[in-house]
Amino acid sequence: MGLNVIMMGPPGAGKGTQAERFARERGLPKISTGDMLREAVREGHPIALQAKERMDRGELVDDETIIAIVRDRLAKPDASRGFVLDGFPRTVAQAEALDRIMTERGDDPLIVVDVEVPQEQLVQRLAMRRVCAKCGINADPKSSAPVCPKCGGGFVQRTDDNKDVVLERLGVYHRSTKPVLEYYRERPTFRVVNGAQPADRVAHELDALIDDAAGARAESL
Ligand code: AP5
Repeated sequence: MGLNVIMMGPPGAGKGTQAERFARERGLPKISTGDMLREAVREGHPIALQAKERMDRGELVDDETIIAIVRDRLAKPDASRGFVLDGFPRTVAQAEALDRIMTERGDDPLIVVDVEVPQEQLVQRLAMRRVCAKCGINADPKSSAPVCPKCGGGFVQRTDDNKDVVLERLGVYHRSTKPVLEYYRERPTFRVVNGAQPADRVAHELDALIDDAAGARAESL
């Protein structure tokens, strides 16, 4: 059975942190639309230059572009036995498109986890976050390493992590992405995890919730 997980939550909730770990531990690909867009920007991909302007303002990239990117990525062989989506879907139109893709694949139901964190903590985390300028990974907040342990790149603030843009991203989240939670909420495989606790505790609870949802999914088939 495919383990098809969506990590939902506001900017700074820790979706990327948990998606990365969970995907690695379960041998699944982590598919982050934000990471894919930033990589395309670093590579100077023409489609990404327009997207970058929107990202730097804290706005969403258009649904058509994002859905095409995700459709292509999910068609790769490594996603055939499951995946962890981080940052997608962010609009109801994207969620509906994902449901169509899942139906076409004849795949198992989605497991949706909402990572909840109060807004003051989100703003604080994003103000503190540093990322590698070369490969984009988050700096470990507990480490004092001056350069990226993976590629040796320097750490910088993400261009959309300044305070004004963070507030815009939070506004966009409330307007466009919260309705996606309502879209999924009644499904038997929807779960909520408290993200306002140390990352290893979030990980522990999240694993249990996903395994429980996978069990509920198996029973409903
Ligand atoms: P994206 O990259 O997806 O950004 P985001 O959703 O705003 O999420 P973040 O990456 O900021 O936060 P996160 O929840 O992953 O937290 P993280 O683990 O890094 O999207 C960026 C932009 O791309 C969008 O604004 C949009 O323009 C565009 N885009 C992307 N997808 C799109 C889509 N589907 N449609 C349209 N446009 C799209 O953690 C944050 C910090 O907190 C880190 O420093 C981390 O170390 C720390 N941390 C993590 N967990 C904890 C914890 N438990 N306790 C304390 N600190 C923690």
